[in-house]
Amino acid sequence: MKNIRFGIIGCGLMGKEFASASARWCHLRLDVPRPEIVAVCDINPEARQWFVQNFPTVSFETGDYHDLLARADVDAVYCALPHVLHEQVYVDIIEAGKHLLGEKPFGIDRQANAHILEAVARHPEAVVRCASEFPYFPACQELIHWIQAEKFGRILEVKAGFNHASDLDTGKPINWKRRRATNGEYGCMGDLGIHTQHVPFRMGWRPKNVYAVLSDVVRERPDGKGGIVACDTYDNATMVCQCVDQKGMEFPMYIETKRLSPGSTNEWYLKVSGMKASAYFTTSDPNAFHYLYTEGKNQAWCRVDLGFRPLFPTITGDIFEFGFTDSILQMWAAFLCEAAGLPVDFGCFTPEETRLSHALQTAALQSWQEKRAVDIEELP
Ligand SMILES: NC(=O)c1ccc[n+]([C@@H]2O[C@H](COP(=O)([O-])OP(=O)(O)OC[C@H]3O[C@@H](n4cnc5c(N)ncnc54)[C@H](O)[C@@H]3O)[C@@H](O)[C@H]2O)c1
Repeated sequence: MKNIRFGIIGCGLMGKEFASASARWCHLRLDVPRPEIVAVCDINPEARQWFVQNFPTVSFETGDYHDLLARADVDAVYCALPHVLHEQVYVDIIEAGKHLLGEKPFGIDRQANAHILEAVARHPEAVVRCASEFPYFPACQELIHWIQAEKFGRILEVKAGFNHASDLDTGKPINWKRRRATNGEYGCMGDLGIHTQHVPFRMGWRPKNVYAVLSDVVRERPDGKGGIVACDTYDNATMVCQCVDQKGMEFPMYIETKRLSPGSTNEWYLKVSGMKASAYFTTSDPNAFHYLYTEGKNQAWCRVDLGFRPLFPTITGDIFEFGFTDSILQMWAAFLCEAAGLPVDFGCFTPEETRLSHALQTAALQSWQEKRAVDIEELP
């Protein structure tokens, strides 16, 4: 199948993850179009060097993304830049007629997101999606199958979260993700929220309103040069939403996104409790699917080790373990299929879903300011 030629804008942490996934495309046992990285852009020349050294297919490097977008040999772009740059750069990528896998939160705020979505509407020929890899863990796919098969009966509640502990280290130097000017007003919600919302939104669960409690505990951090600077983003967020499913049934959904969560190392989880069944998946136990077994009046949590049975089959034997980099490869396989117009059972987060995410998180900010529940439809 024909290669899709990629430019990468933003050669940091996530730019490298994509490049590494593209380098092991042979891992996939399906005829999925291969991403070929031909051009890279970063304002930091050292960041570009890693790509030039490791990828012989890279024939162009630049510090100015406009030069990359002007190239006819770039079909698609992966853009992994600080949030403050999403609006301008995503719009320019889409206007250049390239397919785009952008990063969350897909615009630093709701207005920026709306401008990106206007560009999407002007260019239906461009396939545009937002990165979110955790639903591609096999045990999360199993949870999705249970939801789709309506095994839970009436849903009682849904809990979704994405938590980290690393910011408990107050000696950790500041970076752009801990500054409001570059990361945005949403703070931890902008950084982590879309990850928690991909499965719920895709399952058709719509939050009607939200009550949010936000905390900004760590107010300053070392600047890495011997000084101390302000750290002005929200560290932790807890949202309670009244949700409605596709049949109009209501249930509470709890979403937590935390950078100060003792004991959590990149812990993503989703738990669904229902009248007929309950189940959960957490990346802290990455191969396991947990479900409730009921016999008479007794209930017991069961743990099934699912092994390596992802959405897109690979050369890895199904008794082996699945991990973060595998989920990245699976997400990229989904995006490449979508870009090539191939059917995908569980596709990447869509621009419309980012619109709902921004509405929810904007309502959460308002809720915290006014200390009340905010209807999402109440937003201007
Ligand atoms: N999907 C995930 O799991 C995941 C994980 C981490 C970050 N992210 C998202 O990825 C994006 C990037 O995060 P990261 O962790 O890779 O950040 P990073 O800081 O590691 O990398 C960002 C890169 O952008 C470059 N850059 C800054 N301004 C630029 C400009 N004007 N033109 C070109 N390059 C420029 C920087 O030099 C840096 O190399 C963010 O949107 C973030 O939310 C996603």
